[in-house]
Amino acid sequence: MKSFASDNFASVHPKIMEALEKANAGHAMAYGADPITEEAEKRIKDLFGGEPEVFFVYNGTGANVVALRCLLHPFEAVVCAKTAHINVDECGAPEWMTGSKLITLPTEDGKLTPEQVQTALHGFGDQHHVQPKVISITQSTEYGTLYAREEMKALADLAHAHNMYLHVDGARIANAAAALGCTLKELVTDTGVDALSFGGTKNGLMFGEAIVFFKKELGQHAKFYRKQSAQLCSKNRYIAAQFNALLTDDLWLQNAKHANAMAQRLLTEVQKNKKSPSRNPCR
Ligand SMILES: Cc1ncc(COP(=O)(O)O)c(C=O)c1O
Repeated sequence: MKSFASDNFASVHPKIMEALEKANAGHAMAYGADPITEEAEKRIKDLFGGEPEVFFVYNGTGANVVALRCLLHPFEAVVCAKTAHINVDECGAPEWMTGSKLITLPTEDGKLTPEQVQTALHGFGDQHHVQPKVISITQSTEYGTLYAREEMKALADLAHAHNMYLHVDGARIANAAAALGCTLKELVTDTGVDALSFGGTKNGLMFGEAIVFFKKELGQHAKFYRKQSAQLCSKNRYIAAQFNALLTDDLWLQNAKHANAMAQRLLTEVQKNKKSPSRNPCR
């Protein structure tokens, strides 16, 4: 069976399976206190530059929820596109687990613009109004569109000008970097992103994502929120080993380029085979 429905239908990359097999030897400290996890944290830090805080979780919804819990109080709000995965496809987990409101904005293409976001930035200091605290974008978006680096920077600047944070749902951030031809450091760290849900599952892993905080203080309570959110993996070496393989010899980039090329091929073939509108047989 071949399905084009989602990258979640795809099998695991052989190098990831190999890494899982290799990690499956003997005992290791639990809950991320093992050397494989230490190596994966270092690899992620090297990839993004600087000294970001890294937390591994099981899945994408978990990454978004734990990241947002770290950025918000329940009286604060997240501004996001109406089409955002956190709004549409997470069964209300972000609202339920943060206690915060999502302020959703309609978009043509799944992308927020600073002008649009600006319309939601009011009521600061008013006790009757939720306090906008996070702008959350998805890169690449649920529509397969991309934010240019300048567009991300503009949203980060807007957030920071209002004492807010920019969160990126990067379930497919690798695809975005591959398509834009830039490094993850250029795309994420250098544009001023505060917190990233760094996708692994859609880039060849069996399971596993990482939350990356680019300001130390944002990760301060992350380990507690992660545990409370049931996202702490006791045998974390198996998530970490997958990331180590993904971040060796740019496997993440190869996988993303391949996925992008296949998506492009699918588009070309679908367009080629699109039936022309049927003629009226009576004429
Ligand atoms: C953009 C985006 N964010 C987050 C997720 C959530 O991932 P998961 O299904 O692992 O919770 C998905 C899953 O398809 C997604 O497409």
